[in-house]
Amino acid sequence: MRAGIIGIGSYVPDKVISNFDLEKIVDTSNDWIVERTGISNRRKADYNICSSDLGAEAAKYAIKDADLKPEDIDLIISASSSPDRIFPATACIIQKKIGAKNAAALDIQAACSGFIYALTTATQYIMTGQYKNVLVVGSEVLSKLTDWEDRNTCVLFGDGAGAVVLSGVEDGGVLASILGADGDGSELLELPAGGTKEPASFDTIENRRHYIKMEGNEVFKFAVRIFEDCTKKVIEKSNLSLEDIDYIIPHQANIRIIEAAIKRLKFPRERVVINLDKYGNMSSASIPVALDEAFHSGKIKKGHKIVLVGFGAGLTWGANLIDWSL
Ligand code: ACO
Repeated sequence: MRAGIIGIGSYVPDKVISNFDLEKIVDTSNDWIVERTGISNRRKADYNICSSDLGAEAAKYAIKDADLKPEDIDLIISASSSPDRIFPATACIIQKKIGAKNAAALDIQAACSGFIYALTTATQYIMTGQYKNVLVVGSEVLSKLTDWEDRNTCVLFGDGAGAVVLSGVEDGGVLASILGADGDGSELLELPAGGTKEPASFDTIENRRHYIKMEGNEVFKFAVRIFEDCTKKVIEKSNLSLEDIDYIIPHQANIRIIEAAIKRLKFPRERVVINLDKYGNMSSASIPVALDEAFHSGKIKKGHKIVLVGFGAGLTWGANLIDWSL
């Protein structure tokens, strides 16, 4: 028996922010954003909405898709770069919102690799027999952590959520996982203030320290290298080869990162799931939303071998190889 995905769902807010909308806010252009990132639109949650709201909606879809009830969930793992609060865990708020009263709940913070870290953690709990049904949620309201005066970052991010339910499966499942981190790169991509290093103060607000800061070029180079490396390693760990892989579903940060990495891998573009043009970078929600769309549109089928690969702040990275069992 392996751990496998038995239900999947996603949820994005209705409101669309286009590149043309951004042209009115900062000194940018649709042409620049499309050419340099591949992004055309992103979703934005209303101001009264937080990550657990989007996460709870995605979770309800995933639990229904798994033919389970919220009471059947034994553990909720929430991954978010934009949690509701520092504490309590967003997973606890999701638990309350969906009525999963029998579940333990914990958060994972691994930025854009969060979904891969959470899925890998869920797999361990199932394989050890500790829990039967584990809900993994990646949810983000990055629009509230984005500096809408900073053209280097505000064009990139979007809001949304994706969720999966994992349980023991006889056929297929998660064949292999790898995770990694390099804290030496922790300052390349960060939200500096609001924690214990720089608690909220008049200075932190005045200096816009509560917004995402990124050294884009450095993160870009890291992302291309680690995407290729992670994909190769997880395939090797599964005793498969690149030719066996039906789809790669990468973190949706930038089309140029994806194109450069698959060129190095020599993997065909038509077998890479890409939706960043519609949603931008939804951090820990990017991979589950892309996976949900690929599955429910009929692209991914039972028996397909799928690589999920993520990378992000930390620096962190990871990959899962799944023999699709739904
Ligand atoms: N519109 C117009 N011009 C812009 C914009 C914009 N929105 N943003 C930057 N520019 C300008 C810059 O100011 C710079 O101008 P200059 O030459 O006069 O100084 C020029 O464009 C080139 O800037 P670069 O930063 O070199 O642009 P680049 O092609 O590298 O693209 C980008 C920037 C899109 C941020 C890219 O570096 C990137 O995608 N990086 C990786 C991001 C990522 O992967 N994040 C992943 C994890 S996210 C997480 O973990 C939360």
